[in-house]
Amino acid sequence: MKIASIILCAGASSRLKSSKSKILHEICGRPVAYWPIKHALETTSVKPIVVIGHQAEEIEAVLGGYFQDSISFAYQRIPDGTGGAVKAAVRHIDESCQSVLVIYGDTPLLKKESIMNLITIQQNSHVPIAMLSAVAADPSGYGRIIRNNAQQIVGIVEDQDATPLEREIKEVNPGVYVFEPKFLCENISRLKPNSNKQEYYLTDLVQTYMNDGAPLGPVNSIEISYEEMQGINDRRQLAYAQKVLNRRLLDQWMLNGVTFIDPDHTYIEEDVQLAQDVVIFPGVHLRGQTQISEGVIIENGSIIIDTVVEKNVHIFPYTWCDRAHIGERSQVGPFARLRPEARLDHEVKVGNFVEIKRSHLKKGVKVGHLAYLGDAELGEKCNIGAGTIACNFDGQKKHETVIGDHAFIGSNTTLIAPLVIGENSYIGGGSTIDQDVPKGALAIGRARQVNKLRKEKVA
Ligand code: UD1
Ligand code: CA
Repeated sequence: MKIASIILCAGASSRLKSSKSKILHEICGRPVAYWPIKHALETTSVKPIVVIGHQAEEIEAVLGGYFQDSISFAYQRIPDGTGGAVKAAVRHIDESCQSVLVIYGDTPLLKKESIMNLITIQQNSHVPIAMLSAVAADPSGYGRIIRNNAQQIVGIVEDQDATPLEREIKEVNPGVYVFEPKFLCENISRLKPNSNKQEYYLTDLVQTYMNDGAPLGPVNSIEISYEEMQGINDRRQLAYAQKVLNRRLLDQWMLNGVTFIDPDHTYIEEDVQLAQDVVIFPGVHLRGQTQISEGVIIENGSIIIDTVVEKNVHIFPYTWCDRAHIGERSQVGPFARLRPEARLDHEVKVGNFVEIKRSHLKKGVKVGHLAYLGDAELGEKCNIGAGTIACNFDGQKKHETVIGDHAFIGSNTTLIAPLVIGENSYIGGGSTIDQDVPKGALAIGRARQVNKLRKEKVA
């Protein structure tokens, strides 16, 4: 079965009150339209056609970044409605396909199963239109589904065009349709602009078919939940969709053995991977390609981005990790910052107010408090005292600091790179070190303390 799909993303998004198209606002770290496009890819067999117009360049760049060559774009030159958008796409439809799925790019909560069921219904019935429907507690803003006495769908009336009586109808149009391609191509150009908005409504196809006497039988519909059908028109709906999708992702991980102390206040993105017996405290954000292994505990307010966390690591509250790698049984935080290419081997301890960038901390290194390490390599079991700073930048270039195994760096040491500090060496607290230190040496680089007797005694 060859099934094509069209996803409409060309609208102007005026109700969101944003300089950015609503299609590009993010839900669980992905643009709004990512979700329906992903479902189209999963349920159909021909390259989805994404219709763009308003902010076309930006949308094409972002969606192209996610989906590359697996989607194609069609351009709606004038924003003349959902009917106009489909008109811009129909000439790209593969002529040999049996059905065409049409969905809106602003409905991210739709489930793949509902789309699959709709495709099956349309293909089995041979009626050229099948659509989803939903009953809304508050139907305002949505198109109302009009049925005749025989309960057949005879049309869809938009909210702003509805009579007071029609506005009372609670059955609404989620905006998901499966068409027989020939019917769609022939009838899309027969649509007349709506008298109020001067737009072509895709929804008018239902009435067109019924007015033609519904030659192949009445329009089929399947009911979905109100949660699933909600579109993103304003920021309240954006927040709602974020909450629902986030919860769906968390539910899946909970079923796989992950504990979230408070799933209502934990935030996750689509590509994050979690192992069994991970425990996540409230206020944690897990983003990007983050991978968390078995037995890891991540406490309150930590933000973990594109980071690999190996088994049994403990991340204490309010820690920031971005493109870092944390080895088994290490402890990080509270209030630590691991920046890109911070690599911690096993059993490393990074404590409060420590920042690490592009540095390799080998097994058992301890950096307990208030330190900065950038472009550094630290040998096994080094101890880095509080207030140690690797001065890696001379104003123009970055330089490296290499510290051998078991070195002890006293508190408040300034390490002026480039620098090599030998293994088992010891640096006295308060030193400024700008020359290499041989292995096993004691280095002190500070003015000697002088105690002078005062002439008069203080009473
Ligand atoms: C639409 C439906 C309505 C349904 C609701 C479901 C029509 C006429 N109305 O209304 O029955 O209840 O969705 O969420 O179809 N778009 C274009 N080009 C345009 C206009 C819109 O590509 O010229 C795209 C938008 O980017 C959006 C989608 O089509 O993704 C829907 O447009 P929108 O303006 O949000 O329609 P609604 O008023 O929500
Ligand atoms: Ca909408």
